[in-house]
Amino acid sequence: MRRVSPTPKSDQGEDDFLISVREGLRHQPKSIPPKFFYDAHGSHLFDLICTTPEYYPTRTETGILERHGAEMAEMIGTSCTLIELGSGSATKTPLILRHLANDAVYVPIDICEPHLLNSTQRLQAMFPALQMQPLCADYHQLTDHAIKHHAGKRYVVFFPGSTIGNCTPGDAVKLLKRIAALVGPGGGLLIGVDAKKSIETLNAAYNDAAGHTAAFNINLLKRMQNELGAQLDAEQFAHHAYYNEEHGRIEMHLVSQCKQSIQMDGESFAFKAGETIHTENSYKYAPQEFKQLARTAGWHLQSTWHDENEWFNVHYFSQSASESLKLAR
Ligand code: AVJ
Repeated sequence: MRRVSPTPKSDQGEDDFLISVREGLRHQPKSIPPKFFYDAHGSHLFDLICTTPEYYPTRTETGILERHGAEMAEMIGTSCTLIELGSGSATKTPLILRHLANDAVYVPIDICEPHLLNSTQRLQAMFPALQMQPLCADYHQLTDHAIKHHAGKRYVVFFPGSTIGNCTPGDAVKLLKRIAALVGPGGGLLIGVDAKKSIETLNAAYNDAAGHTAAFNINLLKRMQNELGAQLDAEQFAHHAYYNEEHGRIEMHLVSQCKQSIQMDGESFAFKAGETIHTENSYKYAPQEFKQLARTAGWHLQSTWHDENEWFNVHYFSQSASESLKLAR
């Protein structure tokens, strides 16, 4: 495998983390962006979440890719350059890669370098013929210069896991527009999107009995202690996740269990008892809602695959409407 150069250590340097936490804690209500969950330990905790019985998205999407991966590969073009955003452990990727031709190229992009390199090595061993070009970057900060274009290749972004759900709908449109610029005309987007469903099922998925989601949330505080020298008592914060029906999203919070303050970088951040740090949104979209949202960003829906409960959707969008007319017959 060949690393795309220059490979920054990560776009998520200490500075980005410090600046974002400081900003987020100064603001009312307090918040920290969810991308900071994914240090090495956080990435590991996320993998554990994915194995819990309550967290249905991973196994549901995996089932969809297992059943329809061949058809998806046919649609995206078996000789494409496949760019995966937030590839992490890339456990679902083989379900697409196994249907690609030997001249396909795979470009995994992730914020967590050890995770990125480990998973790329594993995939390269599974698919020795495929060219792989891992890129350690924060895909929120990607510019279209980051990826070299080879003439005659179709660029397709693979964005599984419903990671798009972390964005507000407005930010999702912006990101989808940036993806459009990244893949260029003729490019495609294969994206996994979690659907709306019963509140009980949604709430359980973010409150697993084994406590991995809680540990994942609390790990953010430990990162602040270890990397930013923040003085805080992690025991005095509790994990809270619930479905906000009005906004159609799961919200995760760290709830201050008492009146307290966090000291960081010469600044004190006061918390009332019960005050929270909002750490994540996870938006859920009905297929029609997401189709509309992507349309606003210039994407044309080609096909949607889902599980039998319609708990999760994998959509394929392309840049050109003509392809959509052709397929619409
Ligand atoms: C990786 C953003 C899709 O929102 O379900 C899992 C992250 N947070 N449990 C999600 C997450 C808590 C996950 N995404």
